[in-house]
Amino acid sequence: MIMERLKAETRIHHNRLENEPLSRGLTAADVDRARYARVLAVYYGVYAPLEAQLESTVDWRQLGFDLAPRLKTPLLVRDLALMGIGADQLSALPQCSRLPQISDLGAAIGCMYVLEGSTLGGQLITRHIGPALHLNADNGLAFFNSYGPDVGPMWKAFKQFAETHAAGREEAIITAAGATFEALEHWLGAGALLFDRDYVPNAALTAIVKNSGSNAVSGPLSRNSASAN
Ligand code: HEM
Repeated sequence: MIMERLKAETRIHHNRLENEPLSRGLTAADVDRARYARVLAVYYGVYAPLEAQLESTVDWRQLGFDLAPRLKTPLLVRDLALMGIGADQLSALPQCSRLPQISDLGAAIGCMYVLEGSTLGGQLITRHIGPALHLNADNGLAFFNSYGPDVGPMWKAFKQFAETHAAGREEAIITAAGATFEALEHWLGAGALLFDRDYVPNAALTAIVKNSGSNAVSGPLSRNSASAN
């Protein structure tokens, strides 16, 4: 069963992501709109290029799988616009280039496992951010809310799709899931550095991403180590 293997073999990545400062900041008692907007901007920088690859690599229609309603980039764009980050700023934001190559269906399933699975954690974040910032799916919380009450059924449908197409692709799926988690760890770890600075979207993000080497991947960043960089 590929889903069991995926869960077991990527657990260590998930634990790291759950504990890195960017994620923890979202469920902190003192979360505010500025912090929330920064997090969305960082997520945009990695979701947009990953989803562009997913869209272009596989003929989803031929497989009978509807990818469009699962794409989160449009939700990020909408939320960011509502947080005051318009199209001009958005197009100037840096995008992650250290990404796995999604070159076939196996890699696409592995990558989607990570992005689809994140909707489960998104529910917890939604339950915290919603009341804390007076947000809902219509006024800025669409990304983390993702499928709303349909998160369970959407996850179940993805699991069935993955199991149906896993035969002969297991290693490619596992490898791509691990690489996708690593890309997220790298990018969100770099983005976490923003929390010790005043937010200057483009300059700050660009400098951070340029300067972030492999250290950004290897573990949680403390506030102290962040400000030392
Ligand atoms: C970008 C960040 C994240 C990614 C990519 C991610 C990814 C995933 C994946 C792939 C799964 C599915 C595990 C399985 O195979 O059943 C999952 C489940 C889950 N995640 Fe995350 N996650 C992220 C952040 C978070 C955060 C910040 C939290 C907590 C606030 C969280 C809480 C959960 C929970 C509660 C589950 C369900 C576990 C279960 O039902 O067994 N995740 N996540």
